[in-house]
This record gives sequence, C-alpha cells and structure tokens, in this order.
Amino acid sequence: DYSPTPADKFSFGLWTVGFQGADPFGAATRPELDPVRAVHKLAERGAWGVTFHDDDLIPFGASESERENAVSRFRAALDETGMTVPMVTTNLFGHPVFKDGALTANDRDIRRFALRKVLRNVELAAELGAETFVAWGGREGAESEAALDACSAFERYKEGIDLVCEFIRERGYDLRLALEPKPNEPRGDILLPTVGHVLAFIERLQHPEMVGVNPEVGHEQMAGLNYVHGIAQALWSDKLFHLDLNGQHGAKFDQDLRFGAGDLKNAFFTVDLLESAGYSGPRHFDFKPSRTEDEEGVWESAAGCMRNYLILKDRAAAFRADPRVREVLEASRVTELRRPTISSGEKAADLLTAQEDFDPEEAGKRAMHYELLDQLALEHLMGLG
Ligand code: GCO
Ligand code: MN
Ligand code: MN
Ligand code: MN
Repeated sequence: DYSPTPADKFSFGLWTVGFQGADPFGAATRPELDPVRAVHKLAERGAWGVTFHDDDLIPFGASESERENAVSRFRAALDETGMTVPMVTTNLFGHPVFKDGALTANDRDIRRFALRKVLRNVELAAELGAETFVAWGGREGAESEAALDACSAFERYKEGIDLVCEFIRERGYDLRLALEPKPNEPRGDILLPTVGHVLAFIERLQHPEMVGVNPEVGHEQMAGLNYVHGIAQALWSDKLFHLDLNGQHGAKFDQDLRFGAGDLKNAFFTVDLLESAGYSGPRHFDFKPSRTEDEEGVWESAAGCMRNYLILKDRAAAFRADPRVREVLEASRVTELRRPTISSGEKAADLLTAQEDFDPEEAGKRAMHYELLDQLALEHLMGLG
C-alpha cells in the first residue's frame, strides 16, 4: 500500500519541512517548526533519517549553552524515535557575512571564519554518527565576471575542501564529503554548476577518494541537463555518495517541488536506476512545501515525496518484469551495449585489419524500436500493465 518504513531509507532536511514559505516577494506564511517536532512527525510517517544545516538546529551566533541544549533536545528526539542522522551540512549562505561567498570569498578573514564554521560542524556530524557531510557552495559565485578571479577561487575552494578532509583524517572520523552542484540561485552564476563540473573538480583534490557528489534533481534540470544521466555518471565513477530528490519544471528558478512533481518521467527513470544500479545510500528529499500550505499541508507534501518514490519503484519493477519490454529491449539491442566492443586480447591493429562482413548501408536501415520501448515505459508509468 506504498506506506514507507525505515528500511526504505527515506531522509528529510530539517530545512525542508521547516521551510516557512518566505520568498523574494513575500514574507513567511508558516510559523517556525521545532526540530524536535519535525523528528517526531517524520518518524511517525515512516522516515528513517533527518539531516540539517548547523543553523537549522543551532541558531547562528548561539552561545555554548544554547548549543548544548539544542543538540541534547535533538538527540533525545532521535533516541525516542530511532531516527538516524545520515548527513549534516553547513549553512554558508544565509548570514550577510557570506554575501560574497564563504570558502571563495574575496575577504580572507571571512574565508577563515567560514572554515571554522565548517570544522565545528564536522565535529557535530561525527558526534551524531553521520556518514556524509554535504557542501553546497550556494554563494560561491558571482553576478559579474569582473568581480571574481575565478582561477583563484578554484584554488581557494580546493584549499578549503582539502583542509576539511585533512581534519577528518586527523580526527579519524568515518565521514565522506559530498559536493552539491547548482548552476545559479542565489548567485547569478555559481561555481561547480553541474555534476560534471564537480566530478572534474574532485580529481584535483588532495584526497579525491573522500569526496563525492550530491546531485539534486532540480539543479541539473535548471541547467537543462538530464538528471538520470548525471547520476549514472556519478554511480559509474563511484561518486554518488548522497543525493537530493525533488521536482522541477525545466529551466527556471529552483522550484524544490516534492519528489515526483515536475518531470515525472525523469523521476520514474531516476528510481528505476537507483533501484537497479545498487545505490544503497539515503533517499534524501530536499524540497520546499509550497507557501500556500499550513503545517498539515507540509506533512502531506513530505508523505507525497515518499509515496511517489514507492509508487515509481513499483512501476519501474513492473516495467522491467514485463515480457513485452524484455522482448523489445532485446530487439532494440539495448542489452548488446553491455558487450565490450573489442574482444579480449584484441588490439587496435587487429581491429584495423579485421575481415568483417559489415554493410553500413544495411546497418543504417536497422529499426531501433525506441518509440515502442518508450511507449511501454509511459504505459507502465501511467499505471497500465
Ligand atoms: C538549494 C540547495 C540546498 C542544499 C542544502 C544542503 O538549492 O537551496 O539545494 O537546499 O541542498 O543547503 O547543503
Ligand atoms: Mn539540495
Ligand atoms: Mn534546489
Ligand atoms: Mn534547496
């Protein structure tokens, strides 16, 4: 009946269900949500984990005793409900001090302050048993090329991430970093705009094995890219450490719709890939319940994310099990792509001189049957079969 259980590994950011609805044109429409209440409400609905930015739990500038109090109340809620904290992240974008970036801010003292904030939060993440530490550089960017020495910014970005990795190693924490790409918003242009940019950046780091990617559905779609292909490349690179599931309608502002809303077909193939490619990490939702909703609407939206995932999982399994689909996959030679192009032991020189009875004219006329295949996918997605 599509009711989630902790075995489904669904997790939610405190900032998602806690979103109060403020946007650039209007004030908040909902009151603050106590993190303790969020933990209980999510647990009641079958979620497994809860994630947060430091500032979601401990208000910016809080005293040591306020910090301890916030963490111990939260911990008690985790203990009572059995909820886990699979991921923690740092808010390096909200306070005006970060208006020009954090790890890549021009002002060196701001960069040092930002790194201290991250290190402090790494300690908290380890204390709560998180496995992944997400870094979203929302303010690492610019509105004008003149304002940013981009090559130096990459150097400082690397310096910051290297320092955090070094700290995790020195402390012996069991923690990996996941960088989250986004093309724009809140900056006009953000550094590391897509999955591909992050994968390339990781190769330049001191400890590339400790760093992966945290791709968000909507962020790739804002860049006009295919999320399924993006996470496939991350999986193929062993870099899909975490992910942010939500919904988006094409290239426009970051909508953060509940998962399944937006590009439903891409969501279907996202679940199909995650469930078939051996992804075992959290199914994490980073969405913003619409500001039209009251608190009840927030819980409906959160439940919708999980329910849509489970329905799509069921639909994808039906698609894969359908004998007609298997037949068309064969006829389309989709399965033939698994076969290496070159035989074992064969060299380029052998290929050059191979006597093959190959007729490009004939091959150019072969039918692929993709229309039928795609139609069968749509029919399963729409509930037939
Ligand atoms: C956004 C981002 C954020 C990050 C979060 C974790 O577009 O607002 O997706 O929600 O995921 O800050 O670092
Ligand atoms: Mn996100
Ligand atoms: Mn987003
Ligand atoms: Mn977001």
